[in-house]
Order: sequence, then C-alpha cells, then structure tokens
Amino acid sequence: MRIAILTVSDRSWRGERADVSGPALVQAVIAQGWQVVETRILPDDQPQLTAQLIQWADSDAVDVILTTGGTGFSHSDVTPEATNAVIQRAAPGLAEAMRQASMQITPHAMLSRAVAGIRGQVLIINLPGSPRAALENLAVVSPVLPHAVQLLSEDANAEAGHNLSSQKKGESSNSAR
Ligand code: MTE
Repeated sequence: MRIAILTVSDRSWRGERADVSGPALVQAVIAQGWQVVETRILPDDQPQLTAQLIQWADSDAVDVILTTGGTGFSHSDVTPEATNAVIQRAAPGLAEAMRQASMQITPHAMLSRAVAGIRGQVLIINLPGSPRAALENLAVVSPVLPHAVQLLSEDANAEAGHNLSSQKKGESSNSAR
C-alpha cells in the first residue's frame, strides 16, 4: 500500500515548529509494512491543500493520503474543506469510527471536523494535528485500509477480503476464492 502523508500546519511550514506528527505517521505506516511514497508540509491554506491533494490523488502513485492537522475549530483550520473540495465520494464511516473511538480517550474528539473520502482510486483521510491524536486515529482505521484499497483498485479478488473478515467473526463462507 502506497501512502502519502501531508502535514498541515502554518507554524511547521514556516519552520517555527518541528513537524512531529508527519514523522510519527511515517513510522507507524512503515511499522504496518506499508510504503510511504510522499511527505510534505503545507500551511493552512485551502488552495494549496486542494492542489496537493489533487496532484497526489491523480498521480497513479498513491493509494491513501493521510493528512494531519487543521481539522479543529480554529478559524485557520481548513483541511476538511480542502478535502471535501476534491473528493468525489464521501466515506463518513471512517471519520465516524475515529471520532467514536477517540471519544473514549477525550471529549475533545468532538472538536474534530475530520472527513474521509474517495477521489478516483485514492482514499483521503484527515487525522488530527497532535502526534498522539494522529496515531490514535490512524490506529482506528488501519485495520480496514488494506481492504478499502483493494476495493478501490477494483481488484477482482476484493471479495476475498469480505469473506476473510466474515470468517474471522465465525461466520461460514462457501465462496470460492
Ligand atoms: N483524537 C484523539 N484520539 N486524541 C486526541 O487527543 N484531540 C482532539 C481531536 N481528536 C484528540 C483527538 C482535539 S483537541 C482537536 S481540537 C481535534 O482533534 C482537531 O485537531 P486538529 O485541529 O489538530 O486537527
């Protein structure tokens, strides 16, 4: 799985604060056995964010784009707006699951406006900006990412993924793979 990681932070972009979340996500992605193909830091600027998301999503070189930062209530936070401007189909279940799981950790999870969605064959997922929060949220969606990418790649074997998860739950499956 080929992952691009976009850190959204005015201060990190200006070099005033080290980007900790981006490298933390890189490590987490590599630890899963996935590939980090792109990383970049951008300011909280919607046109720049949409341009970068479109470039990566349309490059044929990326399967999943993870953004970190800019999902809160500050007036500068525009990552969800930039994401909504480029996705063709929303994937609300991912954001719902992240908020639900994060609510067990902090009520501040309610303040995340993160969205997820699909552009072409690429899944874009907003994560919060703090390193800990970004990793906690990534951990929620990580288990479903391989199957999501498999479905988006229109892989004829994608159904096998459904069967595998059904079998895990103890359901029977007679489908041939
Ligand atoms: N989710 C988890 N799992 N852990 C956290 O600490 N912080 C929240 C929320 N989601 C948090 C979390 C906070 S404080 C905010 S403001 C929102 O994510 C948005 O964060 P962002 O503006 O850095 O993107």
